[in-house]
Amino acid sequence: MRLIFLGPPGSGKGTQAKMLGESLHIPQLSTGDLLRAAVRGGSELGREARKFMDAGKLVPDDLVIQLILARMQQKDCEGGFILDGFPRTLGQAEALEKAFIVKRITIDAVISFEIEEHELLVRLSGRRVCPNGHGEWHIRFHLPSNPGFCDVCHAPLVQRADDEESRIRVRLAAYRKDTEPLKKFYAERKLLRPIPADGPMAAITQQIETTVKQLR
Ligand code: AP5
Repeated sequence: MRLIFLGPPGSGKGTQAKMLGESLHIPQLSTGDLLRAAVRGGSELGREARKFMDAGKLVPDDLVIQLILARMQQKDCEGGFILDGFPRTLGQAEALEKAFIVKRITIDAVISFEIEEHELLVRLSGRRVCPNGHGEWHIRFHLPSNPGFCDVCHAPLVQRADDEESRIRVRLAAYRKDTEPLKKFYAERKLLRPIPADGPMAAITQQIETTVKQLR
């Protein structure tokens, strides 16, 4: 199964991709996570990407495409994957389509997370993450066992630089301008499956599972 999770920042793509990936035994490929790992690793790509990420702007297409295509070559992707946060521009979608034609593989569906913007602000401003990349929680909706600390490495949780309110607004504007047009791109290819993403996590998981079962 090869899926794309498309939606605005905070719509729950990462949370749901992680759970579905575990139940289908396929990896969640998050360009946000790959970029943050590159930043932590101090590579040249990471240093370049950081300037855009901290400001809430999209990282240039060539850097992201290079990163995700390399990740998709790895063995664990042979049985499928969930692309979480990629593609995010028409240039990325076209590059992905070309790469898939070369590899003779196809996408099964694009799950589009539909949600109002005021809900996104609440979710993103309350998110707290592990500084060592072990996961993310929420001060109201998804508490770790010991509030304020990572469940895995017990480090104090922090707020992402781009979850500050003015940067959230920059990210939402980038979504509307660059990413939302992808809905039309994938609807024209009969791949778009919209799901309501503003309810409790378990209800959204069920919606996604029902959609995925219908694809089999
Ligand atoms: P990335 O890490 O992908 O961030 P994003 O798209 O802005 O997405 P988020 O992680 O903020 O939201 P999400 O939809 O995954 O929601 P989540 O499940 O975390 O990208 C970061 C940056 O990297 C970008 O701004 C850009 O600079 C760069 N980048 C990445 N990909 C790129 C690309 N392809 N091209 C160019 N640049 C790229 O949930 C959010 C919070 O809400 C969590 O706290 C969660 O616990 C909570 N929550 C989730 N579901 C629910 C629910 N149902 N009810 C209540 N709370 C919920």
